[in-house]
Amino acid sequence: MHFELSEEHVMIRQAARDFAQQELLPGVIERDEHQKFPSEQVKRLGELGFLGMMVDPKYGGGGLDTISYVLAMEEISKVDASVSVIMSVNNSLVCWGLETFGNEEQKQKYLVPLAKGEIIGAFCLSEPEAGSDATSQRTTAIDMGDHYLLNGTKNWITNGSSASVYLVMAQTDVAKGHKGINCLIVEKDMPGFTVGLKENKLGIRGSDTHSLMFQDVKVPKANRVGEDGFGFKFAMKTLTGGRIGIAAQALGIASGAFELALKYSKERKAFGTEISNHQAIQFKLADMATEIEAARLFCLKAAWLKDNGLDYNQASSMAKLYASEVAMRTTVEAVQVHGGYGFVKEFHVERLMRDAKITQIYEGTSEVQRIVIARSILQ
Ligand code: CAA
Repeated sequence: MHFELSEEHVMIRQAARDFAQQELLPGVIERDEHQKFPSEQVKRLGELGFLGMMVDPKYGGGGLDTISYVLAMEEISKVDASVSVIMSVNNSLVCWGLETFGNEEQKQKYLVPLAKGEIIGAFCLSEPEAGSDATSQRTTAIDMGDHYLLNGTKNWITNGSSASVYLVMAQTDVAKGHKGINCLIVEKDMPGFTVGLKENKLGIRGSDTHSLMFQDVKVPKANRVGEDGFGFKFAMKTLTGGRIGIAAQALGIASGAFELALKYSKERKAFGTEISNHQAIQFKLADMATEIEAARLFCLKAAWLKDNGLDYNQASSMAKLYASEVAMRTTVEAVQVHGGYGFVKEFHVERLMRDAKITQIYEGTSEVQRIVIARSILQ
């Protein structure tokens, strides 16, 4: 068993760290405050190869492993989780889904520009009345012979207005339950497709989260991913990998908050000495560091299993469950270490605390992760 990163992994982590510190940190407070989508920063992510990291180079990707992706996600999330969720959805849900289950024509047409970061994609599963209960899709895709007629509403869609390509799960045959669901590739300019209002969110305020409306959208049959009825399995398999990305995002939010708390504790003086000399602060720092290290090991283990073709279903849910809870605990404690300064925007930790919460909700709530883990250990 090796716990050492390769030279290439260290270089990728450093490249992501440099990008985050030099190009994401300036302006992150303003983007959060004004809910400003990071257009320039996402363009740079694409140029640097962070939007299609794991895609085969023959489809325009970086050909890297999931460990590299976890390392990059951690560094970018330390600074700007709005940018890292855009990156995560594009890499894990859209590119991975298309590369693994799409046909050659779909890969050439959609995956190549997505992997190069020329465009970004969105993954559309959640609905007003189907969040955790993902089999209860109300969006319909009626088979019309050479095309599907798509009708319905999707909610809380990351990259909702900025995406060009949308993977939309919809019910074709209600009688078949989850086996009647299909995944369709929808282009933004298809008639009948409209982007709804942008959500005004607690955290990750730079990312654009929208509802989407489909009214008699004609989607060619050629845009169905996989066999008829494969849509629910497509969504589940894709989310299993996506959960590693969100676990790494949570890890990054936690380690970003920890680094700020550590630095502050060595600078701030109270009762005649730096607060890092007080045991009350030391205990907090020790707990944070321990939990973050455990979360990192969970993320890397899940990534390693995936890279080695082993079952990572339970490991990805454990990583996401644990890392997201660590993100929440760590950011709350980081605000506490900062005292009054932690409560104001300039010190970054209050934003990290707000950003942490979503990692317990999207790509499956903590409760969904517990369902997945429990089913896995009981089977
Ligand atoms: N891999 C492959 N197949 C899977 C699977 C997996 N991980 N999980 C389930 N399946 C299969 C099952 O084997 C079953 O197939 P068969 O009938 O052929 O055996 C089928 O899918 C149905 O599975 P279940 O009976 O287990 O389904 P369920 O209704 O009990 O739900 C659930 C299980 C785990 C709760 C699931 O619905 C789920 O994960 N819900 C959460 C959805 C979610 O994560 N939404 C996030 C939205 S996307 C997002 O947030 C992106 C973003 O913008 C950031």
